[in-house]
Amino acid sequence: MEEKHIEKVEVCCGGTCLAQGSQDIFDTLQSKFENVEMCSCLGRCKKGPNVLIDEKEIFHYSKPHTVNSKICYETGDIYKRFSEDDITDNFLEDI
Ligand code: FES
Repeated sequence: MEEKHIEKVEVCCGGTCLAQGSQDIFDTLQSKFENVEMCSCLGRCKKGPNVLIDEKEIFHYSKPHTVNSKICYETGDIYKRFSEDDITDNFLEDI
């Protein structure tokens, strides 16, 4: 399978994703991509750590040893940053 072109990688560093290991995800992705940023809660806390690709594709339950290949070769869920669809119950706790 061909590697997809990725412009921007954002790793959720809201409280719940941090507690689930998003710092390790961030460090792993920074070793492969130049354009990796931390972002605030993406509203999918229970499925973290979450990684957002190019503002539109989200990957859940990220793990350091698989996250690079997942975001490059697999298809994540569609994500709209400002949609209230699917916001989890503890979203407000992470703002
Ligand atoms: S803390 Fe990451 S989605 Fe809420």
